[in-house]
Amino acid sequence: MSPAQPDPVAEFQQRLIDRYTEIARLAGGLAHEIKNPLSTIRLNMELLAEDFAGDDSPRARRTLAKIGLVQRECQRLQDLLDDFLNFAKVRRLRLEPTDLNEEVRQALDFFRPQAKEAGIEIAAYLQSDLPAVLLDREHFRSALLNLLLNAQQAMPKGGTLTVSTEAIPGGVALHLIDTGCGMDEHVRAHAFDAFYSTKSGGTGLGLATTRKIIEGHDGRIEVESEVGRGTHFIIELPAPARLPAASQEPPS
Ligand SMILES: Nc1ncnc2c1ncn2[C@@H]1O[C@H](COP(=O)(O)OP(=O)(O)OP(=O)(O)O)[C@@H](O)[C@H]1O
Ligand SMILES: [Mg+2]
Repeated sequence: MSPAQPDPVAEFQQRLIDRYTEIARLAGGLAHEIKNPLSTIRLNMELLAEDFAGDDSPRARRTLAKIGLVQRECQRLQDLLDDFLNFAKVRRLRLEPTDLNEEVRQALDFFRPQAKEAGIEIAAYLQSDLPAVLLDREHFRSALLNLLLNAQQAMPKGGTLTVSTEAIPGGVALHLIDTGCGMDEHVRAHAFDAFYSTKSGGTGLGLATTRKIIEGHDGRIEVESEVGRGTHFIIELPAPARLPAASQEPPS
């Protein structure tokens, strides 16, 4: 038997993966490094603002306005770094057998007060007796919250959010349907891109993080949308036929 020939395509792919991993590691480190001086700047801006508190002179007011501007920009950077680090940290998931309906119920309970405030009605249709899925509950919760928040932001004048679950061949599906502004073809095509956002102050990492989480579960997420009518996100997750007992260590 002749010795195995090196596969140039596989080698090239491996080199790309190594390079990507290195860049991701550097970017994560850089984000961390920026956070410390940023908090020093924020703290000093607060102290500076305190120095001028109670001074009603035009000069003091001008200075306070400038300090406020720097503080808002610092906050934006802080949010961006937090979102970025959140995105970068989705790597190793701690999977455990989970009832998807229960996770959805808990996320909706958390979201309901702010939805009510925003005039959003929630309709939930959760199919009973769903097969259990392997979930990292913490990551999955943040994926769901990203979608709920997006739905809320798409319905500034209120609307309806319909959430349903169903068993599908080999797994379960979760649908989130809002009656919001919808997306045109260009937005829909880029919505999952990292740093793509149509919102002022949006980081554009919400859906990228959500997709990374869902794909980390061997699931998939898709979207259908129509401008002026609303948006439908579909998440499909595999339900392994035989799950380890809940108390066992999840497969790593
Ligand atoms: N339910 C939705 N209805 C309409 N447009 C949406 C919806 N969800 C996402 N989008 C579009 O996809 C874009 C990307 O969404 P994503 O959540 O990644 O970023 P974002 O919401 O803009 O910012 P953030 O990082 O703060 O979440 C949004 O800016 C918006 O244009
Ligand atoms: Mg978002």
